[in-house]
Amino acid sequence: MRIVPNKVLVTGANGQLGRALVSEFSDKYEVVGITRKDADITDKIEISRVISSHRPRYVLHTAAFTNVDRCETEPEKAALVNSTGTENVALACKAVNAKLVYFSTDYVFDGAKSSSYIETDRTNPINIYGRSKLDGESKCLTSWADTVIIRIGWIYSENGSNFLKKILAAAKRKAETARAAGEKPALKVVDDQIGTPTWTKDIAMQMQKLIERNVSGVYHVASNPEVSRFEFAREILTTMLPEVTVEPCSSSEYNTEAKRPLRSSLSCEKLKSENLSVMRPWQESLEEFLKLHGKQLLNEI
Ligand SMILES: NC(=O)c1ccc[n+]([C@@H]2O[C@H](COP(=O)([O-])OP(=O)(O)OC[C@H]3O[C@@H](n4cnc5c(N)ncnc54)[C@H](OP(=O)(O)O)[C@@H]3O)[C@@H](O)[C@H]2O)c1
Repeated sequence: MRIVPNKVLVTGANGQLGRALVSEFSDKYEVVGITRKDADITDKIEISRVISSHRPRYVLHTAAFTNVDRCETEPEKAALVNSTGTENVALACKAVNAKLVYFSTDYVFDGAKSSSYIETDRTNPINIYGRSKLDGESKCLTSWADTVIIRIGWIYSENGSNFLKKILAAAKRKAETARAAGEKPALKVVDDQIGTPTWTKDIAMQMQKLIERNVSGVYHVASNPEVSRFEFAREILTTMLPEVTVEPCSSSEYNTEAKRPLRSSLSCEKLKSENLSVMRPWQESLEEFLKLHGKQLLNEI
């Protein structure tokens, strides 16, 4: 079966990253975005039928069960979607000779390292989501499909659910209630979780470069340097709602279903050593993102 050389198929096309990939790749490639309605990745026959009917050169596989806390209470679903679903996608890619790009996560690490994680560091997930995504990585590698694994973390975009939008929504509520009570608004944000917040648009641009160079193996794709959730929130609110003071607190003050790795920042060693990086510092990306989408997001949430 012959593949269509310039064709890219994106799974999870309604998700945060899926939308950015569809948008950024559409200039240079013939792009097909598929959603759960087009094919549920847990249905092996269905996803195989859809991929073979399009015969893409590349499959950018973003579809996943991404709610980290719900993965703890629904572990079978996490395994079914993130591991078995990924295996189904990988086998379908192998069958048509499509190159598979699997998006994995910083949560494959335990967060105990005292510096950012590089591609060859030992994985050791501490929650069900991280375990299921790591199993997805293994399924890609054992499927014998031509595979690239891209680990990303703390992603944000104007769509879907992410930390940046949650901070804006919480700060807006605080500002409104404090105004009514004649008080100064303040928002507590954890300062012991450290990561690498990354705009989906930057990931999509980096992916174009990686696809052009036909790379294989594992790559970390993230903005740098690392930053705490507290510092990141402060930077967002300094631009968007400067009247809200951000106060540091500890993760132990919040009870969540899933444990989070404390330091899950990603270092893009391979991008740098192979001279492939087009990633920007997170401050630069955030500034551009807020200029483009900040006001509209504040109005909508
Ligand atoms: N968000 C982050 O900070 C982050 C960090 C590290 C890695 N990642 C990884 O990056 C990728 C993209 O993340 P994202 O934040 O863009 O995710 P997202 O916004 O939650 O989008 C995921 C998409 O997958 C679809 N999906 C879920 N189950 C499916 C199924 N059984 N069959 C077909 N489609 C299904 C969802 O469709 P429905 O809307 O219909 O459910 C959704 O559109 C994921 O693989 C994720 O694990 C994300």
